[in-house]
Amino acid sequence: LIYPVILCGGSGTRLWPRSRKPLPKPFVPLVGEQTLFEATLRRTIDPAVFASPTVVTGEAHLAHVRAQLAPICTGMTIVEPAAKNTAPAIALAAQSMPRPDAVMLVCPSDHYIADVAAFHRAVKDAAALAEQGHMVAFGIAATAPETGFGYIRKGAALERGYKVERFVEKPDLETAISFLADGNYSWNGGIFAFRADAFLAELAAHRPEMAEAVRAAVEAGETRGDEFYPAAEPFAAIEGDSIDYAVMENTLRAAMVPVSMGWSDIGNWQALRDARAGDDQGNCVRGQAELVDCKRVLVDTDGPRVSAIGLEDVAIVVDGDEVLVTTMAGAQKVGKLSGAANQ
Ligand code: GDD
Ligand code: MG
Repeated sequence: LIYPVILCGGSGTRLWPRSRKPLPKPFVPLVGEQTLFEATLRRTIDPAVFASPTVVTGEAHLAHVRAQLAPICTGMTIVEPAAKNTAPAIALAAQSMPRPDAVMLVCPSDHYIADVAAFHRAVKDAAALAEQGHMVAFGIAATAPETGFGYIRKGAALERGYKVERFVEKPDLETAISFLADGNYSWNGGIFAFRADAFLAELAAHRPEMAEAVRAAVEAGETRGDEFYPAAEPFAAIEGDSIDYAVMENTLRAAMVPVSMGWSDIGNWQALRDARAGDDQGNCVRGQAELVDCKRVLVDTDGPRVSAIGLEDVAIVVDGDEVLVTTMAGAQKVGKLSGAANQ
């Protein structure tokens, strides 16, 4: 069995005003009827393949996790005493696995995957590599010099994937452009597979203090029903870091499986428009709207009717008392608006 570990931590300010602090991105139905968190759970509930999931989250998101997890499956929720980024969050889950050689599948809770069958095929390959001790990343074909992603240069072929020759987290634009030109780099999809003992050994090698603090926090932690509360004190002292910087850039055991599955991290309103089905003009509308001579316009309103004429590549979002209007080219900057920053 594969042990799913679902990470719920980030805030998603670039999808403001629909994603806000009290109800962040993973818990809002953004594509289709389900929230991204629900869809993530549903991708990993086949009992023939997956053990019940472990969700790692903080107090701030706990109410949403409880409400959205219960109708779908039972699972263990680890409640972080503080947000310390993904490396400690994953380490908490690794320390709590029922057996040291459990193969974990680490899934962010804020991604969209259109082709779930392709995802499952890749998971099979990744799990086989993970069993052999590899630290497996999922490689997504890179189509633009995105600076918000990790990049993976593939090396020698393995039976079901590739060795990773180089892993570079969030390069600057110039470097990203050179990676794209190189042709051998993929984006890191943010999904990982490895054995719990392999992850903990790599963490101990590259971030020994973090590994030790997490171990202490789990040892002194407390189980309440199906929730686990690691001890706050050792955890608070951790210097936060992501798995990408702490482990994937440093490990010699990295491998990757290439996968084409209609993956999107729904990083902004443009990505969301692309993930939602549009009409023949490329417009996609949620709520009441009248669009005349518009192309590739996204409207998402929870109340007022939106009317627009002659717009192209624009997003209009109405959420309660907030209205956002942006060109798709500007969508990347939404998180910098004072409304999004001070929500
Ligand atoms: N529990 C918990 N605690 N979860 C966290 C924390 C934390 O402190 N920090 C982040 N997460 C969750 C987020 O909610 C998200 O689901 C996932 O972990 C990844 O974190 P992000 O903050 O979204 O990472 P990123 O987007 O900057 O980069 C990662 O994902 C990219 C693909 O989307 C990296 O893995 C990149 O290499 C990758 O390309
Ligand atoms: Mg992300």
